[in-house]
Amino acid sequence: MDLSDYEWQLKRPVRMRANDFEREGRLKHVLFASQFNRSLLDKLCAMADKIRELSKSKQGSDDLRHLLSHKRAMLYFTQPSTRTFLSFMAACQILGLTCNEVRDPSTSSEVKRESPLDSIRMFSSYFDIIIMRSKLPDFAECCAYLMNDLERQERRSVPIINGGAGTDQHPTQALLDVYTIQRTFQFDHHEGTRRSRFHDLRRKYTDLTLGPDRKVYAFCGDLGRGRTVRSLVELLSLFEGVTMYFIAPNHETLQLDVDLRNRLVDAGINLHEFDSLDATLDGVPILERLDCLYMTRIQREHNSSQQEAEIGSLDLAPFLLTPERVARMKSYAPILHPFPRDSVVQEIPTDIDQDPRAMYFRQARNGMWARAALLVHLFNVVDDLYDLYDQAFKDGSDSNTRTR
Ligand code: CP
Repeated sequence: MDLSDYEWQLKRPVRMRANDFEREGRLKHVLFASQFNRSLLDKLCAMADKIRELSKSKQGSDDLRHLLSHKRAMLYFTQPSTRTFLSFMAACQILGLTCNEVRDPSTSSEVKRESPLDSIRMFSSYFDIIIMRSKLPDFAECCAYLMNDLERQERRSVPIINGGAGTDQHPTQALLDVYTIQRTFQFDHHEGTRRSRFHDLRRKYTDLTLGPDRKVYAFCGDLGRGRTVRSLVELLSLFEGVTMYFIAPNHETLQLDVDLRNRLVDAGINLHEFDSLDATLDGVPILERLDCLYMTRIQREHNSSQQEAEIGSLDLAPFLLTPERVARMKSYAPILHPFPRDSVVQEIPTDIDQDPRAMYFRQARNGMWARAALLVHLFNVVDDLYDLYDQAFKDGSDSNTRTR
């Protein structure tokens, strides 16, 4: 098979493609964010919480490591990555999977003109799951079609996870972002009880509700090429009463893609676009209105030479967070960033890191729990996880909140 053999499948509507990647209501491969529905998101977030809780004790960690100790994972990351690669590796280690990696294709037989699809099929001979990041936007999806073809031929086939491709999709980043947002809006990770903190906040913010519904999400920076934004807005549009602000420099490469904008409007999202973090809406500064701010880096590595000159000459100051701007935000509004941040441009300077609203390091750590939950789902050991959890917390205090 050749990549071009899958072109007709790639051209189909996304819903039809998504059907190819699930089996009996369970994901078989993870390629794009719209494969996650609200119910699955809730289940994955609940599982991530269970894994996190179990990991706090030696006994729980030892038990978790038996869940998938009979499985092996290949991490095939031929594009740079710190967080996605390491958090997937950590997630595998939490669950007992053995990992191997190829990060530099010059060390594989691709230098001897082996095709990337042959490489993938070889990986599937030795490993039980392939987690990958490639510079080719559709390569992970083509690999999933290859695995489906092999399955139909009753040959060995393994799950494929897209760990971020080009400027296109980053579904597991969106998953960990939603997990972070869900946890943040439970208001239970600060000192004191959840009830008292939420109750206190409600005195000042009378419309505040628990959970990601009915919130204002603002996205700032490179919105045209930010695959994390593209994936996350798809998932946030599953929640009720959501408003989205998009704040980007005045360059078409950096602004929200028109197709995505139209899809969001069709999905009933209340959407506004701005050209500065200091913009106002109906006379009120947007910084004072938003419930969650998602910052992104200008992705210079994707610039053509013409874009380099044009984007290089833009004034980015209206899109950079400063302590003064943070001071205007609501006292609970989390600041997220998929990272890496740009240490030269400083869209988030390090002096904001100490602010309790700076959630980006916590967000990156959440990737480990969310990705471990995804592996539990893909390998269908959800009941085993819940059995472990029930065994560890025998008092049953959490048994009524199960969402398997
Ligand atoms: N957020 C993210 O994808 O980071 P890495 O590129 O370091 O994996």
